[in-house]
Amino acid sequence: MNVRTHHLRCTECGTVITGDAVNSIFRCPQCNGLYDVIYPWSEAVARPAAGPEHNLPNPSALRWLWQERRTSTLPVDQSGVWRFRDLLPIVSAPENVVTLREGNTPLYDMPRCAKAAGVDWLLAKHQGMNPTGSFKDTGMTAALSVAADRGFEWVACASTGNTSAAMAAYAARAGLRSIVFIPEGKIAWGKLSQSMDYGALTIQLKTDFDGCVRILTELVTRFPIYLLNSVNPYRLEGQKTPAFEMMEQLDWQVPDHIIVPGGNLANSSALGKGFMEMRHLGMIPRAPKVSVIQAEGANPLYRWFTDSNRLMRPMTAETRATAIRIGNPASWRKAANVIDALGGWCEQVSEQEIALAKAQIGAEGVGCEPASAVTYAGLKKLVALGKVQREERVVLVLTGHTLKDSNYTIDYHRGELLTEAENAQISPADLALHAGLRKPPVVLEPDTDTVMRTLESHMKQAQPA
Ligand code: F0G
Repeated sequence: MNVRTHHLRCTECGTVITGDAVNSIFRCPQCNGLYDVIYPWSEAVARPAAGPEHNLPNPSALRWLWQERRTSTLPVDQSGVWRFRDLLPIVSAPENVVTLREGNTPLYDMPRCAKAAGVDWLLAKHQGMNPTGSFKDTGMTAALSVAADRGFEWVACASTGNTSAAMAAYAARAGLRSIVFIPEGKIAWGKLSQSMDYGALTIQLKTDFDGCVRILTELVTRFPIYLLNSVNPYRLEGQKTPAFEMMEQLDWQVPDHIIVPGGNLANSSALGKGFMEMRHLGMIPRAPKVSVIQAEGANPLYRWFTDSNRLMRPMTAETRATAIRIGNPASWRKAANVIDALGGWCEQVSEQEIALAKAQIGAEGVGCEPASAVTYAGLKKLVALGKVQREERVVLVLTGHTLKDSNYTIDYHRGELLTEAENAQISPADLALHAGLRKPPVVLEPDTDTVMRTLESHMKQAQPA
């Protein structure tokens, strides 16, 4: 690894170490804090160490170079992460990069969702359109390339399903061996199948995600296994690049607000880091607000945010959005710092609100997994609370593909997702929306008249707005 290009700085006590001096659990031995990757041009060290301003990368040159690389046939240039490698020089040579051509994900306009939420302009950056179907690929290409660069044979992660799918795929590409720890029975089948398909050793533990993290953290101190959970700061370097890509896609016009789901709370901080780095380099004049949305049953950051003493209390998490079923988020302080620095909010949304939001995103022809839908449910709440104004330009970060959790979708449309007690709490206005959105499959006898009668009755029904 090229230790000269970057350092690691403890986000709690500020201690700076070289990249190869970090321990196997990626925590500061002095204060247990997590690290950020910093560069000679980073904000945190710009004044004491970077020297004259002309050491900063040149914004126009970078924009031109990044655009130019899109036409190249080199794998590192085709990757929507490594195309931006000037701002993440973490591997010693481009040949060591492990890529599945991640990134380059679409930014969709969402006119019907915008109208229903009461905003003029709404976009969705669909990170589910990555090679393994989630945003984790952008982080995994970065951290797994570092693992390969440093000569590790084994890599491991604890996961609610998407990290493990991404890690298994990238490890397989690199010829490394991977171990996945997942909570038994608590992840979507599609994700479980991916880690098997890509050849990982898949261990289902009879505990939750937080319990899996505890076991793995002990293991990596005893075996030469490279930890690929998001405490690994190189993951976040990859996950900051969608911020760069979003700005390219918006012609460098900064949106007002980015809304991200919150689980282990690394992604919100990674995107925040990306925006703050661009602002520091003069590529954008200001950064957008970053708001984090959690499920009501897995809401430790929301509780911290609304607690007058600002205490973080880990909890036992429960939500059908299994990707974010996390009660003791490792990166909560990083996410909190980003919300504070950029002026966003933290909100919570109910199971009913998640289900409705997911159906609305699906009906827009976009689709996403339940954990991603919290962003839209959260936006509606922020608008209702007056925290997002109609004219604000909002981007939802959709983190996972709809096919990741098709059981959830099928249960929803068959009316089998929510309990009677949950259904009873839905407002009449939302009940009407659900009724218009639910599309259970129709089972018919193979008889033309029967099919025609059914079609006629459907054609008479008005299409929901
Ligand atoms: N959305 C999806 C689809 C996820 O899989 C996750 C996290 C998140 C949002 C939350 O991101 O943890 O950075 O706040 N999934 C992890 C996993 C925990 O193991 O796949 P975060």
